[in-house]
This record gives sequence, C-alpha cells and structure tokens, in this order.
Amino acid sequence: MDIGFLGGTGSEARGLALRFALAGARVILGSRSAAMGAAAAEACRDTAGVPTIHGTDNANMIRDSELIFLTVPFGAAIDAVRTSLPLLKPHHILVDVTVPLNFTMGRVEYLDQEGFSNSEIIDRNLPKEIPLVGAFKTIPAAILADLKSELNCSVFLCGNSREAKTKVANAASMIPTLHAVDCGGLETARTLERMTALAIALNRRYKRHGARFRVVGLDGETAK
Ligand SMILES: NC(=O)c1ccc[n+]([C@@H]2O[C@H](COP(=O)([O-])OP(=O)(O)OC[C@H]3O[C@@H](n4cnc5c(N)ncnc54)[C@H](OP(=O)(O)O)[C@@H]3O)[C@@H](O)[C@H]2O)c1
Repeated sequence: MDIGFLGGTGSEARGLALRFALAGARVILGSRSAAMGAAAAEACRDTAGVPTIHGTDNANMIRDSELIFLTVPFGAAIDAVRTSLPLLKPHHILVDVTVPLNFTMGRVEYLDQEGFSNSEIIDRNLPKEIPLVGAFKTIPAAILADLKSELNCSVFLCGNSREAKTKVANAASMIPTLHAVDCGGLETARTLERMTALAIALNRRYKRHGARFRVVGLDGETAK
C-alpha cells in the first residue's frame, strides 16, 4: 500500500514517513511545491537509508497513494481537502493527524470548535464514499524522527468506517512497537485531540520531547 502525505514537508509527516519507510512501505511526500516535496524526500532518504521515500506535489501524491495522511496545520486542513476533492476516489482513505492547538506565550491551548473535533469538521467536507480516520494525533514528531528510540506506544484510531480503520491499523502495525487501538467513532477525536494538548504540556513540564500514551490491558485483543 502506498502511503502519501498531504503537507509532507512538515515535521510530523517526515517523522511518520521515516518510520513507515523503514517498516517497508512506499512513501510519497506531497507539497504545494513539487521541488519542496522532492527535497524533503531526498533528506528523508538520506536519514533513513532506504530508497522508498519519494516527493512531489500534493496532486501527484494523491494520484499515487491509497492512504493519504493529512499533515497540514489544522486551520489549513479544510481548504487542503476542498482543493483535493476532484482527485479523491473511493479507494482513498484520509488519515487525519491534525490537532487544533494554539501556542501562545509558551503555553499550549486546545482550541474548542463548538465542541467538535477537527476530524469531524474535516469529515463534513468529504463525500460519503471517502472515509476519514483520525489517527497518530498523539505521537510527537520529535520521537518519530528519533530513529534510535522505539516508539513503544499506542496509536489511537477513530472513524466511522470499520474497514478503513482496519486498513490504517494494519499499516500502523507495520511499525515496530506501535500498537493500534480502535477507539470508536469519529467523535472520539474530541478526546484524542485534547490528549495531544496534554502530551505537549507534559513535555514542557518535564523538559522532554517524547511524551506519548500506551494503553495496557488490551494485549492481543481486537475491538468487538
Ligand atoms: N508536530 C507534531 O509533533 C505533531 C504531533 C501530532 C499532530 N500534529 C499535527 O500534524 C499536523 C502537521 O504538523 P507539523 O508540525 O508537521 O505542521 P507544519 O510543519 O506547520 O506544516 C506541515 C506542512 O503543511 C503545509 N502547509 C502549511 N500551510 C499550508 C496551507 N495553508 N495549505 C496547505 N498546506 C500547508 C506545508 O507544506 P508545503 O509548504 O510543502 O506545502 C508544511 O510543511 C498539524 O495539524 C499538527 O496539529 C503534529
């Protein structure tokens, strides 16, 4: 399965791309500029030492990918999705990594959007046949890029299509020590996005960069 990143030149996309490529996936970094996508991919290939990371513009990335990670700033996500609509086909799955956070005066603040998560708001802008899965929201870019460290954490998935969640979980499970947890419907993103704010606050309080979450007690289980 080819994994693409819309906004693939940012730190979260690059970190995920490194981990997926090292796990054996073919990865495509999209950008508003094909040259920037290519440059980001070259840098990631050098870091990972694998040839399977490519870079191009967002449109070409969408054409060649099945899983499309949405890794733009949260406020840019709706425009990015609307621009992509003519290219999106029923075989695509959008994986929304965005989190509505404000960084002001050294503090991180969750931006409430009338109680709805960013994933739900993005989903309203998609046709029904394109599933959206909220995932990877709680895993910081810094730990993804730190290839000497095992992730050893949960990746939380939520969405209204069980089939799409299974595909994203299968892809996530390629990455060693990452454990996929199906958290339920897309509304669960309201909680997951707030958990990201907590992880960042913990990083700041403890002067670390890799705070993340691991659920215990579900080993070997699949969601019923
Ligand atoms: N960083 C983290 O640790 C972390 C952790 C969890 C979740 N997230 C979420 O992941 C997403 C990406 O985070 P990031 O830190 O990697 O973000 P970022 O560096 O600010 O942005 C990622 C990329 O998005 C593209 N972009 C920026 N503005 C855009 C616009 N108006 N329209 C279309 N594309 C635009 C840019 O690529 P081009 O200029 O090349 O097009 C940029 O390199 C965010 O929504 C964030 O909340 C981040």
